[in-house]
Amino acid sequence: MHPREIRRGVHYVGAVDWDRRLFDELIPLPDGTSYNSYMVRGSEKSALIDTVDPAMTDLLLANLDSLGIKTLDYVIANHAEQDHSGTLPRILGRYPMAKLLCTPKCQPMLVGMLAVPDDRIMAVEDGAKISLGDRTLEFIHAPWVHWPETMLTYLPEEKILFTCDLFGSHLATSDLYVTDEGQVFESARRYYAEIMMPFRTNIEKHLERLGGYAIDLIAPSHGPIYQEPEFIMDAYRHWVLDSPDNTVVLAYVSMHGSTKLMVKHLVAALVARGVRVQQFDLSSADIGKLAEALVDAATLVLGTPAMLAGAHPLAAYAAFLTNILRPKTRFATIIGSFGWGSRLKEQIIGLLPNLKVEFLEPVLVKGLPRETDFAALDRLAETIAARHKEL
Ligand code: FEO
Repeated sequence: MHPREIRRGVHYVGAVDWDRRLFDELIPLPDGTSYNSYMVRGSEKSALIDTVDPAMTDLLLANLDSLGIKTLDYVIANHAEQDHSGTLPRILGRYPMAKLLCTPKCQPMLVGMLAVPDDRIMAVEDGAKISLGDRTLEFIHAPWVHWPETMLTYLPEEKILFTCDLFGSHLATSDLYVTDEGQVFESARRYYAEIMMPFRTNIEKHLERLGGYAIDLIAPSHGPIYQEPEFIMDAYRHWVLDSPDNTVVLAYVSMHGSTKLMVKHLVAALVARGVRVQQFDLSSADIGKLAEALVDAATLVLGTPAMLAGAHPLAAYAAFLTNILRPKTRFATIIGSFGWGSRLKEQIIGLLPNLKVEFLEPVLVKGLPRETDFAALDRLAETIAARHKEL
């Protein structure tokens, strides 16, 4: 795709990665992604805001050629992660006059991870501004969205906020701007769940601060640009601040069917009591979907059989993943079946230390569930429904 003008002198020069299906060798990308890079030219100086994943270097360079960029005064690195910084060495080599601007925390990271020469970097403090002539760039430190060194860049003359990962979506699209709000909302929620959710409390502070800026466009470094900033800022406020929904995420694995019988019964019992359920079979689940479901769910139920007296590894993986994602879940419990003995409860609870949850009484049965076990599942559903009414 060629460069595209966003405002006078401001161009999109990034790359859409339609075919990428995995990020960090972990996160599924069902809809691909993009690495957005922006060229800002003022009356006197020019700046490139973020670069692209190294795999897309040639595309960024071709875009800069196509705009006739022969000199460059500044390169802004909002974030040190390689999908945005990986092309910096090539850019700095091509434009030897350019200064690389980033936060003081980012400077040693770029030197360490990318071997960028230290003397090419100028660290900028929170609130610092640089003039490009008739354009200004202001730097807003935003630590822990999602790394400690991140910042946002604000262009006040056009009221554009360049947010790098914050507010992004892993979505490959030929649309420069959001056109299908439903599709982008889902992609952005999934992205929030996988990348931003562990930093909810930090994001809350940044959202408050951004309330003081006049913003016409939010230009993230993944996914389309927001022409209606409130769309994504309201979504983040909801995900970060609002109480969780009357929803149970039931993630389970079953080896011989006993745990599955319990899952079926509990799901029906919950639904009968007005509780919404999202059920995931961990042997085939898309973990991105599971993460997304955790954004708003009040309760997590893990269903697992005992394997060598401990949790099935897939259930342990789901617990580990949930623990690092730190959703705003309020309640958690375990259901499952064991053959001769079980340390399921201790093991799963031990894997969830980050969650601020009330652990409800698990339902663990020996072998096939019987009437008394189904009755215990009914009581669990009753407890969950009652707790959810108090949210
Ligand atoms: Fe898109 Fe944290 O990198």
